[in-house]
Amino acid sequence: MTKDLQQIIHDAAQQISGVTRLSDLEQLRSSVLGKKSPLSNCLKTLTQLPIEQRSEQGRIVNQAKQEIEGLLKVKMEELQQKAIAEQLAKETLDVTLPGCGQGVGNLHPVTQTRQRIEQFFMQVGFTIVEGPEIEDDYHNFAALNIAEDHPARAMHDTFYFANGLLLRTHTSPVQIRAMQGQKPPFRIIAPGRVYRCDSDVTHTPMFHQLEGLLIDETANFSELKGLLVDFLQHFFAKADLKTRFRAAYFPFTEPSAEVDIQCVLCEGSGCRVCGQTGWLEILGCGMVHPNVLQEAGLSPEKYQGYAFGMGIDRLALLRYRIPDLRLMFENDRRFLEQF
Ligand code: PHE
Repeated sequence: MTKDLQQIIHDAAQQISGVTRLSDLEQLRSSVLGKKSPLSNCLKTLTQLPIEQRSEQGRIVNQAKQEIEGLLKVKMEELQQKAIAEQLAKETLDVTLPGCGQGVGNLHPVTQTRQRIEQFFMQVGFTIVEGPEIEDDYHNFAALNIAEDHPARAMHDTFYFANGLLLRTHTSPVQIRAMQGQKPPFRIIAPGRVYRCDSDVTHTPMFHQLEGLLIDETANFSELKGLLVDFLQHFFAKADLKTRFRAAYFPFTEPSAEVDIQCVLCEGSGCRVCGQTGWLEILGCGMVHPNVLQEAGLSPEKYQGYAFGMGIDRLALLRYRIPDLRLMFENDRRFLEQF
């Protein structure tokens, strides 16, 4: 090998050993092997040699080139290893750190309240049924003795669909479906979502009701009264909870009553929640109107029944002493985790 070539290899080796970054090595590769490198110049001079020396000299230049390539390769591997090691050191993961954890969920306060109500009524022989949330005028109004021009329709702030169907404004349409679907005697409760176009501290456009209906040949108001007083005392876990039945009007029951309980917050002395009256209105009830029995295909001569309806959300608010109904539907975990 000529002195020149040895010098070229020596220079290249020195430059290569000084490189510390992969990108610099790429640049160096072109300066030691590229078109303008001393090695390429050597190759170009081959043409000036006498023909018999050319192949021997060419072999020697190629050997030098391979030597430099080998040096580059070794350096490249070294730098790649170094880069991996650095990355690994930087991205260490401390597997001994405690994890973020996955909290165990719990039932929504409305669900807990619904189940508490259901449990009571199931214990006294009621079964749970469901009805559709999208209803027709017949089940939501007409069959419940609420004729087309009945003023009670105005109280319901109904959401209508373009095709005339509507979002049920109460769970009472399930009464009609139950009476038409089974033969008395029976007793059912029907929990579910209901909708009214209304929104403030005590109203949300969607809320939950639970309907109750008993039909047999002997149902009477005192039985209804006893059942509801038992229920309310059980629900609020207060054996001496005071209740009162106020005469009221519902088109589908006659006679009808609204039931109040003594305010659970002030125990009757008067506060903001009960509007200083000491009483809270809790549910509506009454004896099923003969027109409704008739409409559902049951003879009012033979059968009678009673029905009641309550707001599940309102019962949940009072039981857990929640100040604003809207909190129930914001699904803020800080709120929900308290139940
Ligand atoms: N459906 C009535 C309401 O939404 C409640 C009710 C149910 C009243 C059953 C009497 C009998 O206000």
